[in-house]
Amino acid sequence: MRHNLSDLREVIKDRRSIKPENFKPRKVLKDQISEILSNARWAPTHGMTEPWHFVVFQEEATKSLGEFMANAYKDKTSEEDFLQIKYDKFVNRPQLSSVIIAVCMKRQESEKIPEIEEIEAVACAVQNMHLTATAYGLGGYWSSGEIAYSDEMKAYLNLKDKDKCLGLFYVGYPSINWPTGHRKPLEYKTEWRTK
Ligand SMILES: Cc1cc2nc3c(=O)[nH]c(=O)nc-3n(C[C@H](O)[C@H](O)[C@H](O)COP(=O)(O)O)c2cc1C
Repeated sequence: MRHNLSDLREVIKDRRSIKPENFKPRKVLKDQISEILSNARWAPTHGMTEPWHFVVFQEEATKSLGEFMANAYKDKTSEEDFLQIKYDKFVNRPQLSSVIIAVCMKRQESEKIPEIEEIEAVACAVQNMHLTATAYGLGGYWSSGEIAYSDEMKAYLNLKDKDKCLGLFYVGYPSINWPTGHRKPLEYKTEWRTK
């Protein structure tokens, strides 16, 4: 055994999505953010393309991000579908988090590696981020959706046409008891074959 399996299992099982509405105002330190992002880079990457790209929002930038998303939502939504409550959430939510990381996939110029594999690599990077946050006792929350995936967001993040924003990762100290999770037993999800 090279590592402590029981510690590893505990961190994996303890990782929880905790929404910014359940964060304390306490700031996440720059060193913690750097560690989270540094570990992200150790995700597997086909062809060593390292397709991840992170845009870190803090302080005033969280407010601007919220305003941008709210306006993008308003512009893209018809009057009959528009919900003020959703607009307000776009404005307010980012300010509840001392750090928000836009998680992006930068497409390789040659496009040799299939796009799905580049997205998969970045998703693995997000898991590394979330596990690292868990080790610090920080909640993480991967938020996706129409605005995160929009061309407007792509432009806001200075991404090129073939790049993708995979969502926003909010990190913060929870103000609630650490949530418990649940998963279906392995038998429901596994088929064993020997022949
Ligand atoms: C690609 C991806 C996108 C997600 N986007 C959202 C989202 O937009 N809103 C949300 O409430 N949760 C989102 N989640 C988080 C899931 O809701 C969460 O993982 C699930 O409820 C299980 O909870 P746990 O992470 O605490 O185990 C996303 C998860 C993944 C993998």
